[in-house]
Amino acid sequence: MSADEWDEVNFPRPEETQFDAVVERALSRRGFLGGVLAFGSGAAVMGAGLFDAIPALAQQSERFAFKPVPTATDGTVHVPEGYSWKVLASWGDPLFSGVPELDQETAGSADDAAKVFGENTDGMEFFLVNGKQVIAVNHEYTNNAVNLPNAPEGLPQSAEDVRKLQNLQGVAVMEVAEGPDGWAIVVDSPLNRRITHNTPMKISGPAAGHDLMKTEADPTGTESLGTFNNCGSGQTPWGTYLTCEENFNGYFGATEEVDYPEQIAEGYKRYGLSKDGWDYEYHKYDSRFDTSKNPNEPHRAGWVVEIDPSDPESTPVKRTALGRIKHENAEVTLAPDGRVVVYMGDDERGEFLYRFVSNDVYVPGGDTSTLLEDGQLYVAKFNDDMTGEWVALTPDATGMSAPEIAIFTRIAASKVGATTMDRPEWVAVNPVSAEAYCALTNNKNRGVKTNAGGDEQPVGGPNPREANEYGQIVRWRPASGNHASDSFDWDLYVMAGNPTVHDGAYAGSENVNEGNLFNSPDGMAVDTTGVVWIQTDGDYSNEGDFAGNGNNQMLAGDPVTGRIERFLTGPNGSEVTGLCWSADRRTMFVGIQHPDAPFPDGEGKLPRSSIIAIKRDDNAYVG
Ligand code: FEO
Ligand code: CA
Ligand code: CA
Repeated sequence: MSADEWDEVNFPRPEETQFDAVVERALSRRGFLGGVLAFGSGAAVMGAGLFDAIPALAQQSERFAFKPVPTATDGTVHVPEGYSWKVLASWGDPLFSGVPELDQETAGSADDAAKVFGENTDGMEFFLVNGKQVIAVNHEYTNNAVNLPNAPEGLPQSAEDVRKLQNLQGVAVMEVAEGPDGWAIVVDSPLNRRITHNTPMKISGPAAGHDLMKTEADPTGTESLGTFNNCGSGQTPWGTYLTCEENFNGYFGATEEVDYPEQIAEGYKRYGLSKDGWDYEYHKYDSRFDTSKNPNEPHRAGWVVEIDPSDPESTPVKRTALGRIKHENAEVTLAPDGRVVVYMGDDERGEFLYRFVSNDVYVPGGDTSTLLEDGQLYVAKFNDDMTGEWVALTPDATGMSAPEIAIFTRIAASKVGATTMDRPEWVAVNPVSAEAYCALTNNKNRGVKTNAGGDEQPVGGPNPREANEYGQIVRWRPASGNHASDSFDWDLYVMAGNPTVHDGAYAGSENVNEGNLFNSPDGMAVDTTGVVWIQTDGDYSNEGDFAGNGNNQMLAGDPVTGRIERFLTGPNGSEVTGLCWSADRRTMFVGIQHPDAPFPDGEGKLPRSSIIAIKRDDNAYVG
């Protein structure tokens, strides 16, 4: 009997989402978490003894067995021997009938853009909806030169060009199914839906209705249009999707010089709003994005948005209690008492790591509508002695009102002296051990200059390298194994580096070697067996400091031994981002974003961001 067959017999896995497992474990462990997983402040941070009592992890180190793939610099995807991959969906693939296949000359019409799998696939989550398999997936931004092949340098020339870009972004919810030829979108499934930059949204929580949220089109400050720069993702135990708005500032510009009120101007500065925006040109053709006419519109972006994938008619809800930052992802877990804990990174040099804890507990089948509305937002402070604490962002602590804390979260966090981080990307919670990981992707400004709020970026703690070009992954274990505890111990799971080029800190940590070189960890997920999957968005030049890194990639890490091996390499130019599994966990879905190479269709064709489906040739579990 193979290890996998043995595992299947002894640990059969029912068809369930990863979240079902987390919920069950969290709820059933209430009684003994404090005992078995207690992590006393005096304990060694790397204490392997912590894990001895967890049989799943002992097994998992034996099952962490595939032949690592070498680096690649070519235009396709590589996975280990015994695995294979196929494309599930590419930018331009229809979700509905009546939409033509992608036109290589025009790259499709503005209308059709709202009916296809959008551009730049990113975070995604898997759901079972009445037995149907559904993936909700982010479409982060556009590659204008590819999406508007007839516009000079991809610069939008008309309202129609802008509308096409707006329709190619947002979120797709799509039913998928596995047939004899592999996985495919179920075209015309009643669950299929595209959410774009113009889809109506509700605004809930402390910022809703505040003057800073009101616009001429929405004098109530409670209803907005669109979700923006949807980067990482999350999912709740009650089966909703969380999409995270990251670089929203780039969509706004100003057609006139305006003296903004001081509070608004300070916010613009901290969040990087500019007169010209980032070449989307929305403000020239759609006055909603012109801050000289609608100065509050940017306040209605930068949120975590909750979407019900089971109801295509539902209105997405912007959850302002989770703060307004450049949200990477929203990793949800449960405290032993059932309170909902959400970890969130703010991906900008020298910005912060956050946590939200609900006031009420999650009760399966109960009312969940206010769990992400009523609660407390915290920001992380890391101490050099490898302890840390979550500092509550309250009016008392910040001198700001609750709506102001929600809208200008970065400013509130600066006021309590939070730790400036090396660009917090995804947070991943280990479902089989009370610990969490955050990818700190890189930070050329560490030890060089302050963040946009004037906070120092000292070298030290979990950000130990000046002008950090490689990135690292910080891990923390909450006191008493309780993610709602206000203190934690931390260590660095890995410091990426290059021991073939450098000695010392820039060589990386001991678990980095010539065989697993990578830089700029970004996407992350821990699977049900405790394997840490790490996706990269870094320098793929394969030369100089990055010699031997090759294209961006996905690696698997063992949380106990620290061993890291390369599982997948992406096509040249792409970022590997987004990861989820099928209901039976025999397929792993991985996102390939913005390839330069003409992936996946080959020479002469447009490059298309795609989700691929990876299986083992023996159809065993893949996570
Ligand atoms: Fe969209 Fe920070 O990555
Ligand atoms: Ca990312
Ligand atoms: Ca990144």
